[in-house]
Amino acid sequence: MRKKQIKKATAKKGMRKLSVKNELTGRNSHTKVKTAKGRKLSSTRWLQRQLNDPYVIEAKKKGYPSRSAFKLKELDDKYGFLKPGKRTVDLGAAPGGWTKVAVERVQPENKKGVVVAVDINEMEPIKDAIIICHDFLDDQAPTLIRNALGGEADIIMSDMAAPSTGHNATDHLRIMGLCEAALTFAYEVLAPNGFFIAKVLQGGTETELLKEMKNYFKFVKHSKPPASRPSSAEMYVIASGYRGRNDKIQEHLESSTITI
Ligand SMILES: C[S@@+](CC[C@H](N)C(=O)[O-])C[C@H]1O[C@@H](n2cnc3c(N)ncnc32)[C@H](O)[C@@H]1O
Repeated sequence: MRKKQIKKATAKKGMRKLSVKNELTGRNSHTKVKTAKGRKLSSTRWLQRQLNDPYVIEAKKKGYPSRSAFKLKELDDKYGFLKPGKRTVDLGAAPGGWTKVAVERVQPENKKGVVVAVDINEMEPIKDAIIICHDFLDDQAPTLIRNALGGEADIIMSDMAAPSTGHNATDHLRIMGLCEAALTFAYEVLAPNGFFIAKVLQGGTETELLKEMKNYFKFVKHSKPPASRPSSAEMYVIASGYRGRNDKIQEHLESSTITI
C-alpha cells in the first residue's frame, strides 16, 4: 500500500482538478470539483480530497459511517486485540466507523462480548452495540459505561478528539487531556491483561505518557496506521498486557488531575 498521495492541481479557469493515487487499489483516479461562487478555496480542496480519498470511497462501498473504520481495521490487523467475546469500550465513537468494526470482530450477537460506544454527539444506532450519548468528561460517564459493560473491560479504545482550534499547541493539549482521561478510566476498569488504544498528537507530551504507561502495561508503543493521513500529526498509543490494579496504580490514580 502506498502511503504517499500524489496530488496534481491543474489550474483551469473556474475549475481545479486533483489527481490522487488510489491507496487501496493503486490506480490513479480523480474527481473534478468546480469552484462554486462563495465557496472558499480551502472548502473546495477539502471536498476534492474527500471525493478522491480511496478510504472515503471504500467506506461508502462497505457501509462504514466514516473512513476512520480503516484505521482501526489496520491497527487490529497488526496488533490483534479485537477478538470474539471481548468486552470493548469505544470512546469518541460518532459517527460509528470504529464501533462497526468492533461489532464485526467482537461479535456481541454471540452474547459473551459487548461493545459500548460513547460520544458527546448523537450517532445512528449500530446493530449489537450499546450507544451512550454523553460527555465522557462528565462525572456520570464512568458509571454509565460500567453499568452498560456489566463488569470489567478487555479493551478500551479512544478516538476522541475535540474540534480543531487551528492552534497546534492548544489542539495537542486538548487531545492529550482526552487521552489521559481515557487512560485513567482504563486503569480503573480494565481486566488484567487488558488492551488500551488512544489517539494522540505528535509534537509534545506523548512520549512522556508512553514512558509512564510502561509502568502499568507490558507492551506500549506508538503506531500510525496507513489510513491516518500522512499530513496529520495524529497517531495512536497502543498498550497491551495491563498489569492490573495494584498499590502503585492506586497511588497514581489518587495523585492524577486531568485538565483540558
Ligand atoms: C475523530 S471522531 C471519532 C470517529 C470515530 N472513531 C469513527 O470511527 O467514526 C472524534 C469524536 O470524539 C468525540 N468527542 C470529543 N470529545 C468528547 C467527549 N468529551 N466525550 C465524548 N466524545 C467526545 C467527538 O464528538 C467526535 O465524534
